[in-house]
Amino acid sequence: PLQPVILSGGAGTRLWPLSREAYPKQFLPLTSQHSMLQETVRRLDGLVEEHPGYEIDLRDPIVVCNESHRFLVAEQLRLINRRPQTIVLEPKGRNTAPALTLATQVALRTGEDPVLLVMPADHCIRDARAFRAAVADAYRLAAEGAVVTFGIVPSKPETGYGYIRRGAAIERSGLAGKAFKLDGFVEKPDAETANGYLATGDYFWNSGLFVLCASVWLGLIERFRPDIARATAQTMEASRQNGEFLRLDAETFGACPADSIDYAVMEPLARAAQGEEELPRPIVMPLEVGWSDVGAWSALWEVREQDESGNVLDGDTFVHHACDNLLIAKHRIVAAIGVKDLIIVETADAVLVASKDAAQDVKAVTQFLQKQQ
Ligand code: GDD
Ligand code: MG
Repeated sequence: PLQPVILSGGAGTRLWPLSREAYPKQFLPLTSQHSMLQETVRRLDGLVEEHPGYEIDLRDPIVVCNESHRFLVAEQLRLINRRPQTIVLEPKGRNTAPALTLATQVALRTGEDPVLLVMPADHCIRDARAFRAAVADAYRLAAEGAVVTFGIVPSKPETGYGYIRRGAAIERSGLAGKAFKLDGFVEKPDAETANGYLATGDYFWNSGLFVLCASVWLGLIERFRPDIARATAQTMEASRQNGEFLRLDAETFGACPADSIDYAVMEPLARAAQGEEELPRPIVMPLEVGWSDVGAWSALWEVREQDESGNVLDGDTFVHHACDNLLIAKHRIVAAIGVKDLIIVETADAVLVASKDAAQDVKAVTQFLQKQQ
C-alpha cells in the first residue's frame, strides 16, 4: 500500500498578516479556492487510475499537526469528502523527524509495511498529473527499499533549502533519465556554498517530499537518532487514540529531541551511503512540476496568475499605472497607483506594505508582535 503522511505543523510566519498562529498558511486558500492542505490531499486524485500497471493501493492520509488545529484539519478534510486514517496531535512541535516517526508507528500498527509518501501540507504544485506520475515511479523504487527524494532545478542560491547532489543514472527500464543515485545532501548551506553548488549544475533543491517504506524510515531513525526513536516509541505507548485523533502524550513527547528529517537522517544517510555500510539506497528523482513552497509573499506572487501588467489581485482591488504587485484585500478596497513590486495585504486588523525584495523579512513583524505580548 501507499500511505500518504501530511506534515502540517508549520507556522508560515512570513505570510503575515493572513497567516496567523491560530490559522497558519496550510489552512488558507492561497493558491486556489481550496486550502493548501486540501490541495495536498486532492493532488493525489487520479493516481491509482492513471497508473493501473502499478497496482497502487492508496490509503487515507495520516496528518500530523498541532493539537490546537485538530478541528481545522478534520473540518477541511470533511469539506472535500476525505477521511483521514489518523490525525496525530502534537502538543508542541518537535520538528519533522519526530512527526514522521510517530506517523510511521501509526502506519505500522496495521501490521503491513506500507510505502510512505511524506508531503508538506503547504506546498504548491502546478502540474499535479506530472507529480502523480513521479510518485508512481517513486513508489516502485521505494517498495524495493530505496529512499526516494525529489529534486527541483535550482534558480537561485537560496539558503533555506536542502541541496542534493545527483550521481549516476539508475539504469532501469521505464526510468531512463528519471532517477539518479543521491550522492550528497546538504541542508541549508551558507550563501557561498549554495552559489558554488549552483555553478556546478549537479545540484537540486530538496523539495521536502520523501517516499520510503515505513520499516525503512524506522530503521534509519534508529540508526542515526536512537534518542528520537526511543522518545517517540515511549510517546506512542503513553498516547491515546480518540476516534480519528491520536493525542500525543505531552510529557514524553515534550522530552523528545527536536530535529528535521533533513538534518537527522538525510544528511547522515547521504554521507554513510558513500561508505561500506549496508544502508537503504538514497535516490533523487528530478521533479519538473511547477513546485513552490510558497515560503513568502514574493513566492505567492510568482505562482499566482498575473494580469497583463504583472499584478496579482485578490479581493476588492483597483490598480492604475501599477505593475508587478501583489494586492490582497479582505475587508476594504485596496487601491494602488503608480507603484511597482509591492506586496499589499489588507486584513480586518492588520495591513502589510512591503517591497517584494524584502518579502523574507516579514517574519520580523511576527517576532516583534510576539515580544509585545
Ligand atoms: N507536524 C509537524 N510538526 N509538521 C511540521 C513541523 C512539526 O514540528 N515542523 C515543520 N512541519 C511541516 C511544515 O508545515 C512543512 O510543511 C514541512 O513540515 C517542512 O517544514 P519546514 O519548517 O517548512 O522546513 P523547511 O522549509 O525549513 O525545509 C524543508 O523544506 C525545504 C523545501 O521547502 C527541508 O526539507 C529542506 O531540505 C527543503 O529544501
Ligand atoms: Mg518550508
